[in-house]
Amino acid sequence: MTAAALHIPVLLDAVMAGLAPVPGETHVDGTFGAGGYTRALLGAGVHVFAFDRDPDAIAEGRPIEAESQGALILVPERFSRMREALAERGVEQVDGVTLDIGVSSMQIDRAERGFSFQADGPLDMRMERAGMSAADFVNMADEDEIANVLYQLGDEPRSRRVARAIVAARPITRTGELADIVRKALGHRPHEKKDPATRTFQAIRIHLNAELEELEQGLAAAEHVLRPGGRLAVVSFHSIEDRIVKRFLRERSGATPAGSRHAPDRGDAGPKPSFEAVAKPVRAGEQEVARNPRSRSATLRVARRTGASPWGTYQPQDQGRQG
Ligand SMILES: C[S@@+](CC[C@H](N)C(=O)[O-])C[C@H]1O[C@@H](n2cnc3c(N)ncnc32)[C@H](O)[C@@H]1O
Repeated sequence: MTAAALHIPVLLDAVMAGLAPVPGETHVDGTFGAGGYTRALLGAGVHVFAFDRDPDAIAEGRPIEAESQGALILVPERFSRMREALAERGVEQVDGVTLDIGVSSMQIDRAERGFSFQADGPLDMRMERAGMSAADFVNMADEDEIANVLYQLGDEPRSRRVARAIVAARPITRTGELADIVRKALGHRPHEKKDPATRTFQAIRIHLNAELEELEQGLAAAEHVLRPGGRLAVVSFHSIEDRIVKRFLRERSGATPAGSRHAPDRGDAGPKPSFEAVAKPVRAGEQEVARNPRSRSATLRVARRTGASPWGTYQPQDQGRQG
């Protein structure tokens, strides 16, 4: 099966409506995945720089790039580096940026990538196939660190109990093993629809791949590369990610006052709004959720770049919680 057949793009129509691509424009798809958004953008007649940090996603996208006759350039990089990567390719400004945060169905469905608690595989979870693996983390981190990651990034209310069980069961090398340890530690609760391992897997994945930091840096990078009038569309799947996007856009559209560190040298007036909200956040409707259950928790936010200078680095003031 091809990558595109495995992954159904989420909120595609709403994303395209938000990006409003005009033929001849240049857009960034920061999360190429199976190329669902990129294909739609190419179909609308725009040039696309499509980023993905997963070498498999890039390799599987090469045929689309070859067919595109120069309209698509695949960039095997993190989207946090979009400003530098575009500059290296002679591009300073673009008309649209899309981020579809998180993992693709290909990553989840392929047991050998180690993202899934439903299919047994090596405990990996690295999007880039490099750096610390999930096995390294659960086998080497101390109990407190594991508990904090599970609490902060997975909303696991019984993070200490799970961390204790993980440490007691080390070494752990398979996703199936980790899932069983979590299920045993938390017990089977009939009213819980979700597998109790979901939260632990989500937390470890977000931690290992530094996904929240990537999102913050990606938003700030998009602010730099979008031309005045350029559109930003961000789809996220967890409240913790959506909170980052919401706060970024609220702050940069002037809806909430910026912290003083954002504008230490810009005088009392502070920076001018660099984005304006375009529409209310969009959630998937019943039909889409029935067709694609992954869309259930998706939220799309769209904003338009103003002509004001970029504010620069984004450091949310109050995003973490202590476990
Ligand atoms: C949800 S999927 C995107 C699906 C895509 N919109 C589609 O329609 O096929 C997310 C993809 O983004 C990639 N990704 C996640 N974080 C990234 C980052 N910081 N930089 C670049 N790619 C990233 C993942 O490897 C994955 O392939």
